[in-house]
Formats: sequence, structure tokens, C-alpha cells
Amino acid sequence: MSKREDSNVQVHENDLQQQRLIMDRVREVSETRQEKPQAYVDTYGCQQNEADSEKLRGMLVEMGYDITYDENEADVAIVNTCAIRENAENRVLGNIGALTHTKKANPNQLVVFCGCLAAVPESVEKIEQSYKHVGLIFPPSKIWKFPELLLRALIEKKRIFESDSDEGMIAEGLPTHRDGTVKAWLTIMNGCNNFCSYCIVPYVRGRERSRSVDAILEEACSLVALGYKDITLLGQNVNSFAGGENDFANLLRQINEIEGDFLIRFMTSHPKDASRELFKAMSECEKVAHHIHLPFQAGNDRILKLMNRGYTQEEYLEKIAIAREFIPDIVITSDVIVGYPGETEEEFNDTLELVEKAQFEAMFTFLYSKRPGTAAAKLHDDVSREEKQVRFQKLVDLQNEISERKHEEYIGEVVRVLVDGEAKDAEYPLKARTNGGRLVHLTGEPSLVGNFVEAKISHCNNWSLFGDS
Ligand code: 5AD
Ligand code: SF4
Repeated sequence: MSKREDSNVQVHENDLQQQRLIMDRVREVSETRQEKPQAYVDTYGCQQNEADSEKLRGMLVEMGYDITYDENEADVAIVNTCAIRENAENRVLGNIGALTHTKKANPNQLVVFCGCLAAVPESVEKIEQSYKHVGLIFPPSKIWKFPELLLRALIEKKRIFESDSDEGMIAEGLPTHRDGTVKAWLTIMNGCNNFCSYCIVPYVRGRERSRSVDAILEEACSLVALGYKDITLLGQNVNSFAGGENDFANLLRQINEIEGDFLIRFMTSHPKDASRELFKAMSECEKVAHHIHLPFQAGNDRILKLMNRGYTQEEYLEKIAIAREFIPDIVITSDVIVGYPGETEEEFNDTLELVEKAQFEAMFTFLYSKRPGTAAAKLHDDVSREEKQVRFQKLVDLQNEISERKHEEYIGEVVRVLVDGEAKDAEYPLKARTNGGRLVHLTGEPSLVGNFVEAKISHCNNWSLFGDS
């Protein structure tokens, strides 16, 4: 058995069955209450966390809770946290702090701290010492155990700290409470093996574990049957998906075979694993959206090497040239980090050069943030905050110019879009996405939500398009 197959350990059916029994028990108790108990789930960070929150909500609903969006009403208030950058962490801690007031008003409220920060020992310690109103902490790998942990926290009336003692496993069949009716997340794998030097994800989400192709196909079929039109396959690095004989390109081909009018999206891709075979599959599968989010992180080869990214600027640009060769209208978006420790002005100029050459539709720019435990945290962060800010602005300005130019190409065109929600805008009351994932503010009736429509694009800005249905 290969190492990868070896690590694809499923949570044992008996353990899951035990959680289901606990959910039944909690529900029976909930049903004896005069008013249904309320649960609030606040989510930070990436789509993976959104997907995890949907599972927490699913389990809460199974346990007889109603979902509330008001933390003041909540019997259980969950903060599903993100550890990716320090400012995300500070925001989380600020909001956890604010829950002291709701807890004071309702001393029976259970405040829960979970997600990626709950797998960072320094953060857990901070919560333990200084945020005494938090009653339950568990890391992402223990989501499947939430019913048991919740029950213990409710009956033992003491603080419960579940630590990250084992490698996370795959838990199938957890109930899911999805927010919308048009777009759905579908997790295909957990964890990450790449150890990019700046990134905390491998430490908080463990090694890569892929779900089985059968389980993914079953979930995809049920989503299509429920009417979802936009399905995003999620993983930290979907291109290293390993479902037995199947790689990611194969998986796309199989999901594409499911009957129905729907779109398949995926994120995130690592350039080193985005293969010719992937782009070929994308071009041959009519349901796979013409979009790839392909973070490049830096344009300079020395910095890329320090980051442990596994490619050079030239190799990255070659990859996107191949993508455009197979799929001429592909939308390419990316992430970049400015101010990696030791990055010089000239090295930063290589990043500007890459952005100029790549011509992304959109790009997310991040200031380097030191994360405890990562390899880069040992390096002296010698780029000043001011310098980082100057570089950040240069990149944002350049990308805005490119995005606007790219968006202008849509003006006057009629494009097929999926209307995925309503907006609070009298002139453009609908939100839609192009096949390539660009946001379109749209005129039209609310009844169009959930439908593919032809939109005539009238104008744009650097972030979105405006059109008439
Ligand atoms: N500092 C700044 N940005 C980071 N990212 C990941 N780790 C860090 C860090 N330590 C960015 C990367 C990644 C995106 C999700 O967050 O660009 O692609
Ligand atoms: Fe998502 Fe990464 Fe934040 Fe975890 S640390 S929630 S994986 S963005």
C-alpha cells in the first residue's frame, strides 16, 4: 500500500454511529424545551471553513437546534476560526472577546472556539488563559466528534479542550445544512502536504486525505438532484487528489458525466501539480467552468525557492500558456504575497513583471504575515511595514488596471450567466456569475435566481460587470 493510500483513514463507522446516537439524545432533550434552542455559527477564512460550518449547522439541526444569525439569541455560539494571517487571527479574537457580553446576558450560553486557530497551540493557550467565557475548543480534525463534545460541555459544566492528538481522518455522511440553493461546496480532500514555508495550513489541517471517488460522486449526484447548479470541489490542493486509481482530471471527467445542467468549479490548484492532463480534461468536459485559481505567490525565482513552491517564474508562465492553449477563454485568477522575509526591491519587481505578463482577470494580494511554527517564521522579517504597504499598493494598482481592461472586453457581449442570488440594489437586484466566475450585477426579476440566463453586459469596473437580463 502506498503512503498516500495508507493515510486515507476513515473515521470508523462505529464511532460515527455513536455520534448519531448522541445527536438523537440531544434532540430528545431539545424537544422537551418550550422554545427550540438556537445556534449561531460565525465563519472566518476560506471556503473549506464555510463547508465545515455547513456540517456543524447540519449536526446542530439534527440535534434540534434552530440556526440564528443573532449571537444574542444563541444558546450555542460557535466561532469557526482562520489562522492564515495575523489580521484574520486578530479579527477572530476581537469577536470572541465581544461574546463576553452575550455570555454575561445569558450565562447558559456555550461559546465554542473551533477551526484552524483551535489547532495552533499558542492560540489555544491564549483562549485558555484570557478568554474564560469560551467553554469548548476543538480543531478541524475533530468536527465529526462535535455532538459528543457538545453534550459533554453541556452536562459536565466545565471547559472542554479537545486537542489535535491524531492525524485528521475522513468522516463520511455528516449531515450538512447548506445556506443557499444554487451554489454548493463539495469537499473532495482535506489537508496539505506542500509545506510552503510561510503557510500554517499543513500544521492545522494535517496531511492530505482524499475522499473516495464513490463518496464524492454520490454527494455530487445528490446535489444535482436537489437542484444545485454550481458545485465547487474543495481542497487545499485539488490537483494532488488521489482517489485510488483516479487523479483529479479523472474525477472531473466522472462528475461531468452526471446528467443535468450544472457547473463544476474547483479550488485551490497548485501550479506544480496543474498538469496538461488537467487542462485537457477541462477543455473536454462541458460542465467544468473555464476558470482556474492558480496562486503564484511571488515572481522571483529565489523567493519562490525559499517559499518551497517548486516552480520558477518561467515555469509558472508556461503553465498558464498551456491552460490558454487548451481553453482560450479561460479566466485565470491568482494570489500573491508581498514582503516575504528578505525580499528586495528588485525581487519584488519580478513579481510586478509576472503580473504584467500573466494578465490575470483578478488577483488577491496579501502582506506577508509571520505564522508560528512555519519555516519562514524563523527568518528575520526585515521588510518594513511601510515598504510592504508601498509594494502592496503598486501591485493592486497594476492589477486593477489589468482587470478593468479585461472586463472592458465583455462590454456589448451577450454572455450566459448563472443567477445565484439577490442584491440590495434597486437598479441591479440580482447577482450572477459568468462561466469563468466573474461577478455580474444584473437587472431582472427575483424569479430568475437559480437559472442560467443570457446577460448583455453594459459596463464594468475592475471588480465586476454590469448587465441586463
Ligand atoms: N502571509 C500572507 N499571506 C499568506 N497566504 C498564506 N499564508 C500566508 C502568510 N503567512 C496567502 C497565500 C494563499 C492565500 C490563501 O493566503 O497567497 O494562497
Ligand atoms: Fe481556511 Fe487556511 Fe484559514 Fe484554515 S487557515 S480557515 S484552511 S484559510
